[in-house]
Amino acid sequence: MNQPTASMHGQWSGRLGFILAATGSAVGLGSIWRFPYITGENGGGAFVIVYLLCVALVGVPIMAAEIMLGRRGKMSPINTMAMFVREYRQHPVWRLLGWVGLIAGFMILSYYTVIAGWVMAYTVKMTSGAFVNSTSEFVKTTFDQFLQDPWALLFWHSLFTVITIGVVLKGVEKGLERSVRILMPALLGLMLLVVGYAINMGAFTRGFEFMFTPDFDKLTANAVLIALGHAFFTLSLGMGAIMMYGAYLNRSTSIMSAAITITAADTAVSLLAGLAIFPIVFANNLAPGEGPGLLFVTLPVAFGQMPGGVFFGSLFFLLVMFAAWLSAISLVEPAVAWMVESRGITRPKACAIVGGISWLLGIGTVLSFNVLSDAKFLWGTIFDNLEYLTSNVMLPLGGFFTALLVGWFLPKQFSHDELQLQNPFWYRVWFFVLRYVAPTLVFIVFLSAIGLFK
Ligand code: PHE
Repeated sequence: MNQPTASMHGQWSGRLGFILAATGSAVGLGSIWRFPYITGENGGGAFVIVYLLCVALVGVPIMAAEIMLGRRGKMSPINTMAMFVREYRQHPVWRLLGWVGLIAGFMILSYYTVIAGWVMAYTVKMTSGAFVNSTSEFVKTTFDQFLQDPWALLFWHSLFTVITIGVVLKGVEKGLERSVRILMPALLGLMLLVVGYAINMGAFTRGFEFMFTPDFDKLTANAVLIALGHAFFTLSLGMGAIMMYGAYLNRSTSIMSAAITITAADTAVSLLAGLAIFPIVFANNLAPGEGPGLLFVTLPVAFGQMPGGVFFGSLFFLLVMFAAWLSAISLVEPAVAWMVESRGITRPKACAIVGGISWLLGIGTVLSFNVLSDAKFLWGTIFDNLEYLTSNVMLPLGGFFTALLVGWFLPKQFSHDELQLQNPFWYRVWFFVLRYVAPTLVFIVFLSAIGLFK
């Protein structure tokens, strides 16, 4: 077997290339679909504060750590970890970090494409004007009926998988940066439009209070774990996606400012999504704890009422679809890059394998909303289990060990040279948080959540 080399993959073009691509990976269904729905399920305010703390204290430092590992390794996470084991004389068990990430990537991708399929279906539904002036009951029934049809869900899941794989096939560098440049401002613009609608027509004050007035009595240990897990999910951390993109990063880009920029963009989109959705929830007697359908039962109501809603609504779902697509690409890339590097498989073949496995797995999620909706075990349906295991267990574990590796096992010189911070004070702050604060927080949250399942 040939030793994989760094030169097998390309590099981002400009200094901005990496930031754009990683932002494309981070901003996706996590911010727009998942954040509002889990915030609603977990009581709002206090949950949001814990989530923001996790993003700042755990997400940002670990993102910097993942980027530097990737940039040094210049390969897929699996081979990057193998390189660190070899060159830095680490215990071979660290290779597991790459493997667990690869498996987590498959699991996430399998349900991600199903939900992104819902978004596609809704893009088409919006263009038909189906929701013009419709009541929230009608919108909710439409969505429930949609979920009842496994063949429709399977169709959209398949279509989204094919499109995603088709792009990865051509190599990630091309087109990706340009897509993000256009997508992000457009997405932000449309989100602001919906927030504007929510301010005028929705119960904005109630929505705002729901999101930002904390009631810590409502917060369970499990909710804290969900907030922590979501910080990893939404920032694409803990499974190697950011490490993978870091592999294509040149030396002149500042890792720290990249990590902060990406996190800020992702958090802004999440908060805007919440501010768009909750006022609509309260103005239309919908339940904040509606679950995974929250996005799909709130926004059609709003677009159905606003002038030009058919156009803006279709455009909105189209943009969400693009955002999901940019994230899905980053879920696929680590596995594909590894197959190309180490197994001598051609890129198209590797794409077909990854897409095929994830497509098959995704059928479990498709059926979780209809045929198998009563088949519950562990944390619920097949979808519930995939979501819980990846977001609340595998990603935090991946992040935990990434922090340990960079904070405790690799020479301090390594991270010092990679970060190249002008001010030594900020290096010390970062190192302290990565070494002590982030792993301790993940550990404590894990322990207290496990205590719940007695
Ligand atoms: N961060 C992406 C989102 O919020 C999902 C994702 C998770 C992508 C993990 C890559 C890795 O939609």
